[in-house]
Amino acid sequence: MESIVQQIAAYRQEISEYQVDGAASLEAYRIKFLGTKGIVKGLFGEMKSVPNEQKKDFGAILNEFKTFAESKYEEWKAAISATEEKGSSIDLTLPGDPMPLGSRHPISLVRNEIVSIFRRLGFSVAEGPEIEDDWHNFTALNLPENHPARDMQDTFYLNQGPDWLLRTHTSNVQVREMEKGKLPIRVVCPGRVYRNETISARAHCFFHQVEGLYIDEHVSFADLKQTLYFFVQEMFGKDVKVRFRPSYFPFTEPSAEMDISCLLCNGDGCNVCKHTGWVEILGCGMVHPQLLENSGIDSNKYTGFAFGMGIERITMLKYQINDLRLFSENDVRFLRQFNAAL
Ligand code: PHE
Repeated sequence: MESIVQQIAAYRQEISEYQVDGAASLEAYRIKFLGTKGIVKGLFGEMKSVPNEQKKDFGAILNEFKTFAESKYEEWKAAISATEEKGSSIDLTLPGDPMPLGSRHPISLVRNEIVSIFRRLGFSVAEGPEIEDDWHNFTALNLPENHPARDMQDTFYLNQGPDWLLRTHTSNVQVREMEKGKLPIRVVCPGRVYRNETISARAHCFFHQVEGLYIDEHVSFADLKQTLYFFVQEMFGKDVKVRFRPSYFPFTEPSAEMDISCLLCNGDGCNVCKHTGWVEILGCGMVHPQLLENSGIDSNKYTGFAFGMGIERITMLKYQINDLRLFSENDVRFLRQFNAAL
């Protein structure tokens, strides 16, 4: 009997160390210890080999062990059903945890707005490379080598040689669209441009433009003006005044710059408009016939207009931002303020 009692002590130890982590291990435990062919049953079977005078004591030890094994089983079972119940009692009507969403960058918001205004006029979107060759950024736009107007734009050249540069304006897309030779053309070209300028509140080495190009038969300067009037009204409202000033671009003739009445002082004069009441927002003009000919378009049959504007400038006016550097510093306190309609 001594050895069976030792055996029971070992089983007790085993049960104390037994790990139950779910229904499967609990069932394995039940089969091993409490099943019809289990250990407890087996120990009761040993009863007949125990001498009569010891049967009472052995029976007590055995019953105590059986109760212990069963109580452990009940304990684990209760614990498992408690966790299961918890799982099924999730309250699906509780409000969810909001996922913090980012907001669109103000430059993207304004770019999308500009593009959508021109889309309504039938313009589609065209894009071109930021790494460009000399031809598409300059020469094809009537800016041959040594042309003084090249100095107006401080160009970043690439190590690959003088023919490769970062585009200084989105007018390269104008050239690429004309080269495709599919007429009429009515596109807006949004994109990033680069100029080697010292970074300050008013200048940056990269910024964004939207260029527009419309080429068809009988396109006139009046069409250009009406298109831009419409744009200004949609973008800034009906009360904003517009004026055109003669200007010079090698790729347009005649050329103009367009001003709008200052949104900050309503034309009375302030720092933003340098006390003139007017702010320049874009350059424009009739596409130079030479450009059409460069791309094999008959300049006697077709005419066109083009315009180009800086998105930063328009965003600054629209949201009254006074420092260009804010756009690229990624300060979330600044960026978070623009979670308007995405
Ligand atoms: N490309 C000119 C610039 O970057 C803007 C422009 C575009 C002017 C088209 C006229 C016509 O300043």
